Amino acid sequence: MASHKRFSVVLYALVYAAFATTAFSSLSSNYYDYSCPNALSTIRSVVEAAVQKEYRMGASLLRLHFHDCFVNGCDGSILLDPSPTIDSEKNARPNFQSARGFEVVDEIKEAVDRACGKPVVSCADILAVAARDSVVALGGPTWDVLLGRRDSTTASREAADASIPAPFFNLSQLISNFKSHGLNEKDLVVLSGGHTIGYARCATFRDHIYSDSNISPHFAEELKYICPREGGDFNLAPLDRTAANFDSAYFKDLVNKKGLLHSDQELFNGGSTDALVKIYKHSTVTFHNDFAESMIKMGNIKPLTGNRGEIRFNCRRVN
Ligand code: HEM
Ligand SMILES: *[C@@H]1O[C@H](CO)[C@@H](O)[C@H](O)[C@H]1NC(C)=O
Repeated sequence: MASHKRFSVVLYALVYAAFATTAFSSLSSNYYDYSCPNALSTIRSVVEAAVQKEYRMGASLLRLHFHDCFVNGCDGSILLDPSPTIDSEKNARPNFQSARGFEVVDEIKEAVDRACGKPVVSCADILAVAARDSVVALGGPTWDVLLGRRDSTTASREAADASIPAPFFNLSQLISNFKSHGLNEKDLVVLSGGHTIGYARCATFRDHIYSDSNISPHFAEELKYICPREGGDFNLAPLDRTAANFDSAYFKDLVNKKGLLHSDQELFNGGSTDALVKIYKHSTVTFHNDFAESMIKMGNIKPLTGNRGEIRFNCRRVN
């Protein structure tokens, strides 16, 4: 009797585990293995060539996936151009004259549809794979990208304005923003490590260098040449001192009060996330492992699966 009961418990656990994986993680890493075995290698070649040509493109593609996932889930909505029915997210404050890489996404989409002989790979999945391949191309970690997202038929500029965190946010605002997307403080800190690559415009860090006190005075003075009090809004500064390498320099910079954005420095400003910043500063391996894990988590935000959404023929337009 006792052993029968134990058996039932084990059986229940097995059935539950099987159910849980299918019910809560409908994406899978082998999604295109049969429908398009060359999909992933095709995406990788285009990304590698683009990053080779301009390393910043790796940063821009990583950011596109983030800005896609934070607005009604990872559904390719950020890629839709303005039209009479689409209030494009490209015109939202965090993206306008800032989000880039759309031409590379077009190039990937054309190449992958040619390789598959038909449009089977979604634009949302292209963003997820391109983000991973970009990180790898700049010396970061790799991970198995979960696939099977479908593309939205709508976009929302308002949702983009409301859901993407702003560079003037304080720590509690950053934490609650990430929480609203199902992400915790560790995800916040490690994914902000995405700022180990890429650039920001003067307009996004001006207040930080002229008005904040938690910044190295020497660092602030240097930046004032790039970013005057007035004008120069589009002048660029690297988000950490090694903007082409996916290393731990971002976290070292934070500990030295050399975060470029106000939001970056908030992660190391005497609050609850200081300890994590120090861990990632000391261990690139831990940073890389945790980054990969949190990227998968971010990529799982509200995907469209089954027969919801569509596979777009052109990432810029609904079919
Ligand atoms: C935590 C809240 C975050 C805020 C407030 C924030 C804000 C910003 C801002 C203001 C810029 C500069 C944009 C410009 O001047 O055009 C930027 C760039 C960038 N962000 Fe974030 N970001 C955050 C999180 C993330 C996350 C989670 C990732 C990816 C995992 C990411 C990846 C990037 C990259 C790679 C760039 C450089 C893009 C390029 O050079 O084209 N950011 N971010
Ligand atoms: C963060 O900003 C919000 C909104 O401006 C404010 O209500 C809150 O008091 C701030 N928190 C801290 C710790 O400064």
